[in-house]
Amino acid sequence: MKRLNTSLRLRTQLVLIAVCCLLGYSSSLKIGETCSSANKCDAGLRCDTCSINGNTRPRCTRIQPLSPTSKVKGLPFNRYSWLTTHNSFAVSGAKSATGSAIISPTNQEDSVATQLSNGVRGLMLDMYDFQNDIWLCHSTGGKCYNFTAFQPALPVLKDIQAFLEANPSEIVTIFIEDYVTSSQGLTKVFNASGLSKYLFPVSRMPKNGGDWPTVDDMVQKNQRFVVFTSKSSKEASEGIAYEWNYVVENQYGDDGMKAGSCPNRGESSPLNTKSRSLVLQNYFHTDPNITLACSDNSAPLETMTKTCYEAAGKRWPNFIAVDFYQRSDGGGAPEAVDEANGHLTCGCDNIAYCKENATSGTCDVPKISPPPPAAATATADAGTTPPPNLENIAYTDRPTILVQLVGIVMAMNLLTCL
Ligand SMILES: *[C@@H]1O[C@H](CO)[C@@H](O)[C@H](O)[C@H]1NC(C)=O
Ligand SMILES: *[C@@H]1O[C@H](CO)[C@@H](O)[C@H](O)[C@H]1NC(C)=O
Ligand SMILES: *[C@@H]1O[C@H](CO)[C@@H](O)[C@H](O)[C@H]1NC(C)=O
Ligand SMILES: *[C@@H]1O[C@H](CO)[C@@H](O)[C@H](O)[C@H]1NC(C)=O
Repeated sequence: MKRLNTSLRLRTQLVLIAVCCLLGYSSSLKIGETCSSANKCDAGLRCDTCSINGNTRPRCTRIQPLSPTSKVKGLPFNRYSWLTTHNSFAVSGAKSATGSAIISPTNQEDSVATQLSNGVRGLMLDMYDFQNDIWLCHSTGGKCYNFTAFQPALPVLKDIQAFLEANPSEIVTIFIEDYVTSSQGLTKVFNASGLSKYLFPVSRMPKNGGDWPTVDDMVQKNQRFVVFTSKSSKEASEGIAYEWNYVVENQYGDDGMKAGSCPNRGESSPLNTKSRSLVLQNYFHTDPNITLACSDNSAPLETMTKTCYEAAGKRWPNFIAVDFYQRSDGGGAPEAVDEANGHLTCGCDNIAYCKENATSGTCDVPKISPPPPAAATATADAGTTPPPNLENIAYTDRPTILVQLVGIVMAMNLLTCL
């Protein structure tokens, strides 16, 4: 009996050591950990600095929110928050499909297809008539030019179609800044992309601030493509929802980034208008600035989200729209979306705290609070779930964890020998 126990203990130790070694050698790094080209971050993270905030150590930062429907399922569509990219198509370094150089500023760093795979579910697209087709341009005066034209809308819409087809329970919303005047222009390009069959019909959108159908219902009916246009006439002519009948938005650009106030955008009803069920929060500069984005998308965004919540009649945003969504000082825009989803879906401060299928307000808040200072050494909590407040979090190196685990194994051994 005693011998059996000893061999069992030995085997457990060997397994533990093997696990430690595997952990030590696999280059999988958690949020906040120091990364390099050789030492890669886990999926959903990227290795980045935020020098504008004085954070020059490359660390793993978040680029993906938790799935809004991962904890509490089956709520109305307006009870979730979706990560949204401003000018989703205006990708840095892109050349115009006309062959011309582009002089327009850019707002993102990866394609719409990649954005979707990273959990972006709201896309802001500027559409123009151009070269006998519909194009995505970042232009001025309602007219597209070779040097402001990114690409035709069709391939991007086809990417959305492919995503919806491959992910049968996902919903994607687009907000069109609509300069298209050609007859049935949007309908034609939706038809050509194969997206028309996924279109959520205007007739099912709540007209007086009521709840939307549930996400389950939208999925079941395969009405998973939600479209809003900035042109009022299209609701009658093409059955495409005029955004301002259904959505309120705060001011975009620099005027929407003044701490402590959250005025509505000119075209929008006042934010606290309850006859509009969806709230979209803009948070990006008038002139996109990639250097500032990691800072903007972090603590200031979270603070503004609370300000806008109050301004919107205590409503958390259904869409949080940012530039350079991958840039953050730790948690970034994905963290802001997780927080909104915590409040919206389960009454907790973060969706990470929601208990699956639990009654609202039952939260699993991790113990580590407040987070240790950035310089702190590894603690015994190193191996547990990372805390959700991810700015300035202490980091631990794999070797440290390895040493700790080996230490624990040795201590156990010593104890059992006594
Ligand atoms: C714009 O690009 C097209 C190619 O897509 C080219 O044929 C045309 O000449 C260009 N126009 C100007 C003004 O450069
Ligand atoms: C779009 O497709 C529908 C269904 O096939 C068709 O009835 C409609 O005429 C098409 N509209 C345009 C403008 O092509
Ligand atoms: C971005 O902001 C920084 C800091 O305010 C400024 O120095 C820089 O010129 C800005 N860049 C652009 C492209 O506006
Ligand atoms: C939560 O509810 C869903 C749907 O009813 C179910 O599939 C899932 O297993 C439940 N999860 C837990 C942890 O009970």
